[in-house]
Amino acid sequence: MGEIVRLQKYIAMCGEASRRAAEELISKGKVSVNGKKVTEQGVKVEIGADKVTVSGRLIKPEQKNFYIMLNKPLGYISSAKDQFDRPTVADLLKDEIKARLFPVGRLDYDTEGLLLMTNDGDFAYKITHPKHKVEKTYLAVLKGGLTEAKMNRLRRGVALSDGFLTAPADVRIIDAKAGQTLVQITIHEGKNRQVRRMFEAVGSRVDALKRVSINGVEMGNLPLGRWRHLTSHEISKLKNP
Ligand code: URA
Repeated sequence: MGEIVRLQKYIAMCGEASRRAAEELISKGKVSVNGKKVTEQGVKVEIGADKVTVSGRLIKPEQKNFYIMLNKPLGYISSAKDQFDRPTVADLLKDEIKARLFPVGRLDYDTEGLLLMTNDGDFAYKITHPKHKVEKTYLAVLKGGLTEAKMNRLRRGVALSDGFLTAPADVRIIDAKAGQTLVQITIHEGKNRQVRRMFEAVGSRVDALKRVSINGVEMGNLPLGRWRHLTSHEISKLKNP
């Protein structure tokens, strides 16, 4: 159920008139709710359910758009709600942001790092639609080493277990110590568990995975489990992939 507010407040929320001027519109008989003219003050309407018109024109509350980056911890689901009641990324925002935000794309339960959250559907579409080829960069901790030959296969593209052939990727070793290799990989596709499956395809196991940037927008040192608003520069960088 949507929030219930007084009609004059609703009219003001739609940017149509001040509350005072809205009261006048009501007394003058210019306002209808669900097709019925309302002239008395104090009528209440439900946002998102009741249809309010002023002089026959349907009005809607102005939506404030939110663009947020979140550092998703392990053990959180990238959706607004989980059927098994596991913690969701929405839980990390809900005390501070009342608007209903949804994640832009997904990170696995066992992946951490940069996740964008918004209520702007066009923005989310731009970033997630494969045709826009938005680049996502991950840091993967591999068990064991990674040979030059395997890196070159990943760079050219590999066949995943379901036969999907991945596009060329940028792959570089950041650090290598006994038994473990830290690799940075950039891809622009978003198949389910793609990074893990790409490494699997060359016989390597990912022990930990973190996304660190999307289209050049970096997570930087945002603490795990915390979020911040994107800057206008970051928003435009993401809107124009
Ligand atoms: N690739 C994966 O394997 N997992 C993610 O969460 C994102 C990309």
